[in-house]
Amino acid sequence: MRKKESRRRFIKFGAKIVVATPLLAYGLSSCKNSKTVGNKIQESTSRGLKILILGGSSFLGPHQIAYALGRGHEITTFTRGKTKPTIHQKLFEQVEQLIGDRNDNLTALENRKWDAVIDNSGHKVEWTRQTAELLKDNCDLYLYTSSTGVFYPYINSDFTEESELVLEVPAGVDGEMKMEYDYGVMKALSEIETIKTFGEDRSIIVRPTYMIGPADRTNRFIHWPIRLSKGGEILVPGKPEDKIQYLDVRDAAEWMIRLIEDKKVGTYNAPGPKEAQDIFQFVEEASGSFDVSSSIVKIDDYDFLKDNGIYYLVPWIMPEGNNVGSSHINNTKAFANGLTCRSLTHTVRDTYNWWYSDGVSQEQRDKIEKDPKNLLLTEASIIEKWKNKR
Ligand SMILES: NC(=O)c1ccc[n+]([C@@H]2O[C@H](COP(=O)([O-])OP(=O)(O)OC[C@H]3O[C@@H](n4cnc5c(N)ncnc54)[C@H](OP(=O)(O)O)[C@@H]3O)[C@@H](O)[C@H]2O)c1
Repeated sequence: MRKKESRRRFIKFGAKIVVATPLLAYGLSSCKNSKTVGNKIQESTSRGLKILILGGSSFLGPHQIAYALGRGHEITTFTRGKTKPTIHQKLFEQVEQLIGDRNDNLTALENRKWDAVIDNSGHKVEWTRQTAELLKDNCDLYLYTSSTGVFYPYINSDFTEESELVLEVPAGVDGEMKMEYDYGVMKALSEIETIKTFGEDRSIIVRPTYMIGPADRTNRFIHWPIRLSKGGEILVPGKPEDKIQYLDVRDAAEWMIRLIEDKKVGTYNAPGPKEAQDIFQFVEEASGSFDVSSSIVKIDDYDFLKDNGIYYLVPWIMPEGNNVGSSHINNTKAFANGLTCRSLTHTVRDTYNWWYSDGVSQEQRDKIEKDPKNLLLTEASIIEKWKNKR
């Protein structure tokens, strides 16, 4: 929310065997049936796939695991064993957990075969180069979890899958801008490494925008579920022409598994929602998650917002400078290829419930909710200043 709390700072890091099972022309799986997971009936596939997730214990991974197990697949994760999932812990215990380190120890991945690998923890180009090389003869498909950050700086108004990628960090940039460049370049070069090693016919690249939902460790989005639950006068920054984009982490996770099942190789931008939305429509829809009465205080004066340290409130990003087109990522291809979005009220309510579950410690909650600099606590005085100014 405050500029010094960089948006990127919150992104946490990260003898050949011939595969016996040939890829099926129509996809990796067929013959759907159904299975109950928790109280949910999920579609399942009769031929379970063996899927390796590099990462798997943080935000995106646990949701991929839950969905994949529900569809009859077998999951192996590869981590250092440090990060513990804050959701679906019991399911996580059921999967094979390989331990190693992408920096210097990939031994556990040697001489093993999988139908597909999902690279969630690709936080260095070398990491992706090394695992793609190691796994190319033992895995059929490589899905690299990239990011819309590959389009940084966002100075255009419609980024399609064919738009130019950022391939180097210009000289002289520093601070938050350098972090944005570093991340974008790393993701773009990692995509290239994936395709170079696995080939276009065995690579899937998915570029999510801000993912939101249960198990998010970045604390970028939690403001909204907490704030909307309380009702009253709610500060909403931005102008009606400021578009926003986001994607429920579960919609991303589940779609990735289906892309693998259907062997839908290719590169996909992955921002939701399907139809363009502004922050006021977002707040109005999201408010339906709680049975409290609230009203919106629209603050559309960027200078005033900056004076009060509000440069972004994800999914709203002040559309200035390099961020002018950050929410103008074309999503036509993703939706034409099976991406779906659950309702925003589900996202907000489930995130709220997760935040107050045992998966999150009171200390973590206090860090946000009791921080005197957090907008949750400064909002009332900012609204008062705004009213006085008007
Ligand atoms: N969050 C977003 O809004 C967003 C948006 C676009 C794209 N993405 C991308 O989505 C992907 C998944 O994000 P995420 O938040 O779920 O995961 P993440 O926090 O980026 O990655 C953490 C996972 O990687 C493992 N890991 C970290 N360092 C490792 C190492 N040296 N060796 C082996 N494993 C290591 C962690 O387990 P251990 O700590 O136990 O090793 C954990 O399972 C990332 O690539 C991210 O860039 C995220």
